Amino acid sequence: MQRLRIDYTLCMEEALGPTHGLSRYLVEALRLPLEAARTHLGEQRRAGGLQWMDLPRRDPADLLEFAAWSAGRFDDVVVLGIGGSALGTKALSNALLRPFHNLRSADERKGAPRLFVLDNVDPDEIVGLFSLLDLRRTLVNVISKSGTTAETMAAYLVARKLFIDVVGAAALPQHLVFTTDPLGGVLRKIGRQEGIPLFEIGSGVGGRFSVLSPVGLLPAALAGMDVPGLLAGAAEMDAWIGETDVISSPAFVFAALQFLHYTRNKRRSSVMMPYSHALVDVADWFRQLWAESLGKAVDRRGRTVNVGPTPIKAVGATDQHSQVQLYVEGPDDKVFTFLRVEQFDHTVIIPELHADEHAIAYLGGTSMAGLLNAEQEATAWALAQRGRPSLTITLPRVDAHSVGQLLYLLEFATAVSGELYDVNAFDQPGVELGKEATYGLMGRPGFEEIAERIRRGSGDEDNSRLYRLE
Ligand code: PA5
Repeated sequence: MQRLRIDYTLCMEEALGPTHGLSRYLVEALRLPLEAARTHLGEQRRAGGLQWMDLPRRDPADLLEFAAWSAGRFDDVVVLGIGGSALGTKALSNALLRPFHNLRSADERKGAPRLFVLDNVDPDEIVGLFSLLDLRRTLVNVISKSGTTAETMAAYLVARKLFIDVVGAAALPQHLVFTTDPLGGVLRKIGRQEGIPLFEIGSGVGGRFSVLSPVGLLPAALAGMDVPGLLAGAAEMDAWIGETDVISSPAFVFAALQFLHYTRNKRRSSVMMPYSHALVDVADWFRQLWAESLGKAVDRRGRTVNVGPTPIKAVGATDQHSQVQLYVEGPDDKVFTFLRVEQFDHTVIIPELHADEHAIAYLGGTSMAGLLNAEQEATAWALAQRGRPSLTITLPRVDAHSVGQLLYLLEFATAVSGELYDVNAFDQPGVELGKEATYGLMGRPGFEEIAERIRRGSGDEDNSRLYRLE
């Protein structure tokens, strides 16, 4: 099996010049912090605190068994989850199911169900989807580590009522499956009481690091993706990261380059730009991973730092006609990560038509993949001409093995980055305040005080209506 490749020439001073690029001495100067990061992460891993790192070696037999039981029973699988409990499934399904999977006939899908992810509480979306499905042939996978997230629980309650009306309460265990915390939470309690199948998210596996746990792998198995291949790719990346000196280890180098551009050159944003339709949702998944893990108010000693690169998703070649003007000529505050694919599944040769029209005739006889990859190379070059750094990750092809490598690489690089920024990459205190405010506004017991504070506005007097246009 081939490995993915990382080319970071266009991050360095040989390509960008000394003002814009990094010198190899600067990267080398980070050796000690990187080695300290490796040691600290290794200690945490051995102590059982980073169980997501062990997921590539988890036996997926239970997931595959459940998928085998479900085969032929369901036309549709709906995932209800949000954030880390949904984005991994979206990334996997877009990468590993055939394009437009849900539009294909059952035969073309080889009997695999269609797969939908609902990760919002938009009433029109949920009604729109469920009104299309035959609930007697539908399985809903409710995914919530905490088992209390308002959006997921609201969607679950709506789905549950629909199932009760159509198949009856007694049949719920045949139509619901929960993926949740192994110890606590309402979802676990309900699952236990009612005999609804339960899959566990290990306690050292946070939401955004859970794609290789049952969170991502159960929907993957249900939809017929190559789960063992994904895990094998991730395990291979884990070995590569672990066996190599930090200055040539992919996750350490990725983290180091991003960190150096952030701190030394004040490049506060990190753009991920896949040149592959299949990898577009990987950029969305990465956005959450990078933002929630690294955007922190305080460092690990409690000092205020308000740190964290802003991750941005862009799509190649589409956003060349939307964002690249800004990227090339606007503020020099970004570092770019391109994702590209060497071998696409299809070869599309552009027909040789309009031989007299020189403005388009040159395209005839070339391939679409060739054009897409030329556009990526051209964009990276154009950015470099203006001193803007980029690195390119090339997948030999988009398959389970290389996607497993890529996801695990980015997870590990995020953990290393947490060490470099000296922040806790595994908590998300900034999300909690908004969650609590929502609970207050929606009347959850125990959150009356925050609800009252919101109603009063932020000051002592009622100033909440001072600046409104109605
Ligand atoms: O990464 C995280 O921890 C979050 O994005 C969670 O995944 C998200 O808030 C959903 O949480 P839960 O799985 O508890 O419903």
